[in-house]
Amino acid sequence: GKGNHAHFMHKEIHEQPTVIGYTLHRMIDAAAGRVALSDLNVDLSAIRRVQLSACGTAALAALTARHWIEGLAGIPTSWDVASELRYRAVPMSGTELGVFVSQSGETADTLGAMAQAQSAGAHTLAITNVAESSMAREADDVLLTMAGPEIGVAATKTFTCQLVALACLAMAIGRARGVLGEARESAFVQALSEVPSRINDILGREQQLVTLAETIAPARNVLYIGRGMSHPLAMEGALKLKEISYIHAEGYAAGELKHGPIALIDGSMPVIVVAPRDALFPKTLSNMEEVLARGARVLLFTDAEGAEEADRPGVESFVMPAIDPLAAPLLYAVPIQLIAYHVALQKGTDVDQPRNLAKSVTVE
Ligand code: F6R
Repeated sequence: GKGNHAHFMHKEIHEQPTVIGYTLHRMIDAAAGRVALSDLNVDLSAIRRVQLSACGTAALAALTARHWIEGLAGIPTSWDVASELRYRAVPMSGTELGVFVSQSGETADTLGAMAQAQSAGAHTLAITNVAESSMAREADDVLLTMAGPEIGVAATKTFTCQLVALACLAMAIGRARGVLGEARESAFVQALSEVPSRINDILGREQQLVTLAETIAPARNVLYIGRGMSHPLAMEGALKLKEISYIHAEGYAAGELKHGPIALIDGSMPVIVVAPRDALFPKTLSNMEEVLARGARVLLFTDAEGAEEADRPGVESFVMPAIDPLAAPLLYAVPIQLIAYHVALQKGTDVDQPRNLAKSVTVE
């Protein structure tokens, strides 16, 4: 049941500290400060390219992981949504690792893309939340997320658990290839193990997000922007908002704004800026200035120092806990989910069962 929560989605958002903890427990050796994916058969040192694919929110987890795999394992990494990948003639071979991410393990397009990669000779790895699923059965290797059953149609806790698995996979590839130093690995493992308590801190300040949602709820269009790993998060924020509140939203790479979408900006278009204080923060800040200059109201997600630096008329900030930028997507996912939830609640839409959507898409 939903316990004392009004919706499954709310319960599942609040379960994240616990289920991220379970997933981490399976994939890291916290005492040693190392990743420990003992379930894998594949020889990761032999991999020359990684192909990531999935649908919807799972695809956005995979897109986030491209940054981790390139950055920590130094290996070429491609990404495409499964409905496209499966019909493209992507050259693959036995030195290719195909990583397919799916909560349900039953999504038709993801299964199709995985089968195509398998027949092209790639080694396939499924990241799924359902041990008995078709994907878990058919993949050469499986990493199980420990999110528990997700009932709300909008994916929340399974997304952050997928991020945990993908971050650990990136470290495992980096280590197998001898390019990830021990210090870097233990710093990232440490940051990941701090995620559950940092999320609890965010959940404790949910009331602030309810108030911020009131400024979004009347909008007809919302733009989310971010750079680097915050770009897929901007897309995930937009996806959550459109699917449960029916507000049109776009997630854009902040640097692409001036190549078109900035034409849309006026005082009626809120812009949500996802900007952890990483190396790209100053660049995102200058994109924020550009939308402010066109009259947009800005909702900014950043940490305390970032909020101070970005303090300007027209900017409302939600102050995030400080975290190693590598682990930021796991934290920044949470207020993005809660904003969508509270906007939907304020609009009175059906949060757990949005119109036209099914929890598991088993036809293409
Ligand atoms: C969005 C959402 C969908 C799913 C997508 C893939 O909130 O839930 O976009 O992420 O249908 O589903 P799985 O992960 O089961 O393959």
